[in-house]
Amino acid sequence: METRTAECRPFGQLNRGDSVDCITLRNGALSASILTLGATLQGLVVPDRAGEPADIVLGHDDPQAYLDHACYLGSVVGRYANRIAGGRFSLDGQPCQVDVNNGPNSLHGGTGGFHQRIWQVAGLTADPVPQVTLCLDSPDGDQGFPGQLRGSATYRLHEDRLELVLEAVSNAPTIVNLTGHAYFNLAGQAAGRDISGHHLEIAADSFLPVDATAIPNGPPQPVAGGWFDFTRPRRVGAGLEGGDDPQLALGHGYDHDFVLRAGRQPEPAFAARLSEPESGRVVEVWTTEPGLQFYTGNFLPDGLAGKGGATYGRRGGLCLEPQTHPDTPNRPEFPPCRLAPGQIYRHRILYRFSSDAGA
Ligand code: BGC
Repeated sequence: METRTAECRPFGQLNRGDSVDCITLRNGALSASILTLGATLQGLVVPDRAGEPADIVLGHDDPQAYLDHACYLGSVVGRYANRIAGGRFSLDGQPCQVDVNNGPNSLHGGTGGFHQRIWQVAGLTADPVPQVTLCLDSPDGDQGFPGQLRGSATYRLHEDRLELVLEAVSNAPTIVNLTGHAYFNLAGQAAGRDISGHHLEIAADSFLPVDATAIPNGPPQPVAGGWFDFTRPRRVGAGLEGGDDPQLALGHGYDHDFVLRAGRQPEPAFAARLSEPESGRVVEVWTTEPGLQFYTGNFLPDGLAGKGGATYGRRGGLCLEPQTHPDTPNRPEFPPCRLAPGQIYRHRILYRFSSDAGA
């Protein structure tokens, strides 16, 4: 049997008429399913310590469900992942107003962000590494963002890792911040357990405290000794259940950007390690970007219909979203998010899979 394959099949149709395709990449024991809708990572099958496979990301079987619920399950989000205060910023002295869709702020590129678009398959191959490249043209003024932007998302499935490369070019100065918004549940998306029992390590000595609208409102705060200290692996549920930090109340759980020790650099650096003791599954996240949003699925609606009859609820999955820090267009002290014509924006993310031996 062929161990490396890449196939594209029809997935379904949206109420608005668009057809959605699904690309499945397989390499040995791993498989990844990607939709042309939102360049969405719809499924990710990974073995546990006994070799037992399970799908470890939340998703839907019905493409319309991705549009009906603004949860961004597995989608590529853009043009600007995370929030911009008031949807306002100035670029080269010019005021810009982008779509406001989250209280007073702009979140994940606005109401009609990249997660809602049909991306074009620009390359699909099984050899030597199964991979797909999806492209998206975003016109000048899309959701209020300046410049005509061409974005691409390449998923590459190696034997032990999934690589996601996000790129963009623009014909005029603009801002960009693209990431993958997978919700992980390493017990399996259908296991019916929330993520409290997962253990997490984050390579960050500080995080960005936020205001009541989730906009960073001060300098990075050291994590040492507090509920945001993931410098050594700790159970995620400990802070969710017993954390008395006011930031946990403001975020309704963890929903914060961590300042990664490695900063921005050309090769992916270790950002986080997530493990689930019962299955032994481990995912490490590596990135070239300086921030990691850690979000414990606080706003996932209870009773949300998932894949294969699974039902999700609050904390049914958690996101580890590498990115430029939130509200960077208004924060000159953060690593910049400006993209000039002739430049290539490139963000590389690695999800590396392994397993723990167990107790
Ligand atoms: C944000 C959350 C938001 C979620 C939407 C996350 O990236 O940090 O605040 O609710 O996306 O599903």
